[in-house]
Amino acid sequence: MSVKKGAEIAPAKGKLGVLLVGLGAVSTTFIAGVEAIKEGLAEPIGSLTQMGAIRLGKRTDNRVPRIKKFVPLAGLNDLVFGAWDIFPDSAYEAAMHAGVLEKDLLTKLKKPLQKVKPMKAVFDQTYVKRLSGTNVKQGKNKFELAKQLIDEIAEFKRKNKCDRLVMIWAASTEIFMKPHTVHRNLQTFEQAMRENHKAIAPSMIYAYAALQAGVPFANGAPNLTVDIPALMDLANKKGVAVCGKDFKTGQTLM
Ligand SMILES: NC(=O)c1ccc[n+]([C@@H]2O[C@H](COP(=O)([O-])OP(=O)(O)OC[C@H]3O[C@@H](n4cnc5c(N)ncnc54)[C@H](O)[C@@H]3O)[C@@H](O)[C@H]2O)c1
Repeated sequence: MSVKKGAEIAPAKGKLGVLLVGLGAVSTTFIAGVEAIKEGLAEPIGSLTQMGAIRLGKRTDNRVPRIKKFVPLAGLNDLVFGAWDIFPDSAYEAAMHAGVLEKDLLTKLKKPLQKVKPMKAVFDQTYVKRLSGTNVKQGKNKFELAKQLIDEIAEFKRKNKCDRLVMIWAASTEIFMKPHTVHRNLQTFEQAMRENHKAIAPSMIYAYAALQAGVPFANGAPNLTVDIPALMDLANKKGVAVCGKDFKTGQTLM
């Protein structure tokens, strides 16, 4: 996580829009879990934000508040979900297909899950070989695709009356990529996007759009994505947090 020293943490006011890239097993289990808790059909077992505690001071101090009491976090009722996927299935159909949660539970959550319909994805098979879908954006170049995402982010925020947004990459893992010279600063990165350079992966286009829109970006995959100077500089310039690597930041990388 990158937060400027001395930066104020904004209070968790109003609705928080959670923009999920990829509406597969991880995303639909997350959405269905939240909806099940809201409906009183499940308990938030295993949820860091709902159940996790943090030890303050020495072990013997016995100061172990819930994390949600220690830092301002949005309540589950304040979450609104949006998503992009290369398949047009709603979160209900995608969750049924993923087969993580019991079908009985999903049937009870059909209404809220059906409301989450994915926007067209930024996708290129070069970066995820064994996948192809129809719900994919068209654009002159990668910069134009990023602009489409930025417009969608603003539209989502307006339509859902969100105060804040966050974007999470929960899409398929992309091919292994090494940092390239075009990643060295924002100017070379944007130029490379306009030239459809192969060093710009779809995950970088989403991350660029999020950061330009002032939206924090969390990476749930081991992709290179924001781990390049151009996007780290943009995050710093915009004062926006980035975090994550394969959904394991908390365990291994912090
Ligand atoms: N499942 C886990 O326990 C777990 C744990 C740690 C990390 N991860 C990572 O999380 C990610 C998601 O895992 P999953 O199990 O949900 O996979 P999944 O295959 O069920 O879902 C991925 C979804 O992403 C979509 N997608 C692919 N490229 C896209 C793009 N460019 N834009 C929008 N959508 C796109 C796919 O169509 C699919 O619906 C993977 O990168 C995985 O490595 C998963």
